[in-house]
Amino acid sequence: MSPISRLPSVPGHPFIAYQGDALQVEGVPLSRLAQAHGTPLFVYSKAAMLDALGAYQRGFAGRHAQICYAMKANSSLGVLQVFAQAGCGFDIVSGGELERVVAAGGDAAKVIFSGVGKSRAEMAQALSAGIGCFNVESETELDVLSAVALGMGLTAPVSIRVNPNVDPKTHPYISTGLKGNKFGVAHEDALRIYQHAASLKGLRVIGIDCHIGSQITTTEPYLDAMDRVLELITSIEAAGIPIAHIDFGGGLGIDYGNDEKGATPPQADALWQQLLAKIDAKGFAHKKLMIEPGRSLVGNAGVCVTEVLYLKPGEQKNFCIIDAAMNDLPRPAMYQAFHAIVPLSITAKPQATYDVVGPVCESGDWIGRDRALNVAAGDFMAVLSAGAYCMSMASNYNTRGRAAEVLVDGDTAHVIRQRETAQDQMRGEQLV
Ligand code: LLP
Repeated sequence: MSPISRLPSVPGHPFIAYQGDALQVEGVPLSRLAQAHGTPLFVYSKAAMLDALGAYQRGFAGRHAQICYAMKANSSLGVLQVFAQAGCGFDIVSGGELERVVAAGGDAAKVIFSGVGKSRAEMAQALSAGIGCFNVESETELDVLSAVALGMGLTAPVSIRVNPNVDPKTHPYISTGLKGNKFGVAHEDALRIYQHAASLKGLRVIGIDCHIGSQITTTEPYLDAMDRVLELITSIEAAGIPIAHIDFGGGLGIDYGNDEKGATPPQADALWQQLLAKIDAKGFAHKKLMIEPGRSLVGNAGVCVTEVLYLKPGEQKNFCIIDAAMNDLPRPAMYQAFHAIVPLSITAKPQATYDVVGPVCESGDWIGRDRALNVAAGDFMAVLSAGAYCMSMASNYNTRGRAAEVLVDGDTAHVIRQRETAQDQMRGEQLV
């Protein structure tokens, strides 16, 4: 047993735990990192990422499968490097993300390119790099991709993203598999669109793709979507178009510790045991499986360390003003999302209830509401579950530099991103 696993753990964060009174990531106390590198500071546990990946790897043991990390969740080079070294491919949604994969030492042949709005230039860039598959989201995109590939004397490997019209029961902004969403092609039109794709000279149809949403915490939507996809494969293959791989997207949720009923998602291996049974029952056990998990690989591997700047008592509310803000942690403002907030050191201070807010000039700049905290100005706290969709969605609003990032590996802390300066932000701008 590693020393880490014996510590009392923070829910959902096996490698982030209190050692005595002090919160640590693996073997490194967070307060030491906050003092050395300043705040706000994102800190990630490499072991937690590999542990989350391990659940998928166990689920696919003995199968022909490729895990493509959906790098939009966290596209920092040091994070990509962990997954590239562990053999992962990547799910990308832009030419910029492809450049990051290459810079991090990833294998372009294991890249799949998703998204409704790929430009011709991005298609050409991905074809030159030799990516594994384009997940095409519309009929017109098929025509454009075929033309771009023919113009380069190539054929583009494609799968078509089908929309199974299944409700993932998550936040409307992150539901993607319903009829009213902009993603994928309608289930009813899929066969016809596959036949169109098969007729285009610049394309090579190799798979089928589906992604129904994000932060999914129940098994049923996945089971329903799999039934719909398997049904389609049967009819597409009956029409003479072989489907070599099933890409089942990402979307598995994480435990944000908000104790809501049904907020605890299934484990990746348990979920896949049920999905594989469906695939096998249809006689498709030989097909290659691809998945695109993002949040479930990194979300609970990271925290954002922040300093309490001021406690501001109010008539209706008390405010705890911290140095991290909506530009660093956009999920509460965008989706009313819950992130647990805990002190770095457990101390005996009087408890009060606060709205935890940042310095940005917007009332929407809140990180947590009605939180019972024992804190004083100058204390450090950690915003939990901050590994996914925080740094990758961070902005420079209010000319705030993006935070620094540290990757912890055992007892060693590696700075993987320097804090952004105002000079960094103004690079490329000029006076007239
Ligand atoms: N594949 C596709 C095609 C996607 O659109 C996404 C996420 C994923 C895979 C990865 O999904 P995941 O396993 O991470 O759930 N910013 C939002 C989440 C947006 C998700 C967008 N698509 C949030 O902070 O909750």
